[in-house]
Amino acid sequence: MIKIAPSILSSDFSKLGEEIKSLEDAGADMIHIDVMDGHFVPNLTLGPPIVGAIRSVTDLPFDVHLMMDNPMDFIDDFIDAGADNITVHAEVLSHLHRSIMYIKEKGVKASVALNPSTPIDVLEYVLDELDMVLIMTVNPGFGGQKFISPMLGKIKSVKDMINSKGVNVDIQVDGGISPHNIDKVSAAGANIFVAGSSVFSGQDRRLTIRKMKERANL
Ligand code: DX5
Ligand code: ZN
Repeated sequence: MIKIAPSILSSDFSKLGEEIKSLEDAGADMIHIDVMDGHFVPNLTLGPPIVGAIRSVTDLPFDVHLMMDNPMDFIDDFIDAGADNITVHAEVLSHLHRSIMYIKEKGVKASVALNPSTPIDVLEYVLDELDMVLIMTVNPGFGGQKFISPMLGKIKSVKDMINSKGVNVDIQVDGGISPHNIDKVSAAGANIFVAGSSVFSGQDRRLTIRKMKERANL
């Protein structure tokens, strides 16, 4: 099932509530929320109070992508604020299995993200516990970067791993996704597409999301 997850990182933060409403009206399937701590990535964004403040605006699932050195210190706060999925980066967690189990026990979806340079082996023994794997298709930290094309091979490898284990895990991609490349990324095996700058580019958002869904299904 193809899903589009617009990232509010590219939205106008002075009217965040309206922006989220407009994404819902435009056919978004979930809201991707990029949390950056200024350590794991060279940028600083938002925390649980903002997530809590926008929770009442929409019923769409909140897909919270934690780009933080210490995500486990904030899991409870993000869940209390209304997260439906929590994505943690494998690079910062020495006890990845324990972290995943903790998130699941709290009753929300648990996902693991990999930076472009991180090998996929880290997924091998946790895959059957996951709801989603996030393959970063740019180096995290900023919107508007260029898709790193060798990630197509990485997506295929994760898809093969999922198929060979016979598990039901979504593959999300994040970074540089647009109507122009979504067909290739989808063909490689991804089914949940984060889109920041392409959705907020000034074009009609409904049209962009519809075009992305059509092209992902080609
Ligand atoms: C990058 C973030 C992304 C970002 C994507 O670090 O994780 O979610 O907002 O933006 P685009 O689609 O512009 O690459
Ligand atoms: Zn993200």
